[in-house]
Amino acid sequence: MRIGSDEHKTLFCRWFIDTHRRYAPEDLPWPELDQASLDRLRAVPIWSSALAVEKRAGKLVTGFASTQSDPLLREAIALQGVEEDRHGRILATMLDRYGLTVEEEQLPYDTSERCFIEFGYKECLDAFMGYGAFRLARDAQFLPEPFMSIFVDFMHEETRHIIFFVNWISYQRAQRGEPLVKQAFDTVTGYLKAFRVLTSTVQGANGDSGFMGGGDAFGDMSVANFLRTCVRENDLQMGQFNSGLLRPWVIPALARTALGVIHAADRVHYVAHETKNGATTSG
Ligand SMILES: [Fe+2]
Ligand SMILES: [Fe+2]
Repeated sequence: MRIGSDEHKTLFCRWFIDTHRRYAPEDLPWPELDQASLDRLRAVPIWSSALAVEKRAGKLVTGFASTQSDPLLREAIALQGVEEDRHGRILATMLDRYGLTVEEEQLPYDTSERCFIEFGYKECLDAFMGYGAFRLARDAQFLPEPFMSIFVDFMHEETRHIIFFVNWISYQRAQRGEPLVKQAFDTVTGYLKAFRVLTSTVQGANGDSGFMGGGDAFGDMSVANFLRTCVRENDLQMGQFNSGLLRPWVIPALARTALGVIHAADRVHYVAHETKNGATTSG
């Protein structure tokens, strides 16, 4: 199959449409939470921005879908808009169900292709980091498993979104006959912008609460363990789909490279330490 062909477009759109699940946030099996769990849930500093991000995503993606002239692309992108809107409603339902109040943030957006592309790269980065954070939180039993398991489908949908995005953008660029150098440059630029937005968001959340500095609740929060968990979970998420589609690879490859550097530095440090100890003993 040639990337950018009609066959490619049909494959990634039909796959996305066929894997859409119908459910309502109110019908999810929200469990009762004890006071300690409620306190932990309340201490999470991201609910306000997460709600704003998902609400914005719903409007942005739905608006972008309405600008599409190709019926199949319009249907698939509109369905992503439905899912993003539902993510916002899942968070709103959760906040309401457990009596949490947050300040409503309004994030700017438009329905341009540029905005959809920026959003897509950001999703690729957010999903990758989210896989690791979610796994560490589950393993540490930060909140009861019946509560955490509700968000498994949420993560599953984000995985579908980023697979759809990398196929859609490759399709668009191939259709336009863009040279590979330009495609690579635009990809790097897209991820750099996403990194910048993520960094400022994390600094904002952490600055407000100090929550992320108190990572004991999530176990080993070293950079190496976090990246290892992200990579492992990313592989599991992507492994669910054996569809012949392109998959996001840039962020996982960067993470693997960073892990390689960390391991090499640890090894050098260990050898230097052992050599020094040996010299001291024999001396
Ligand atoms: Fe979402
Ligand atoms: Fe999404």
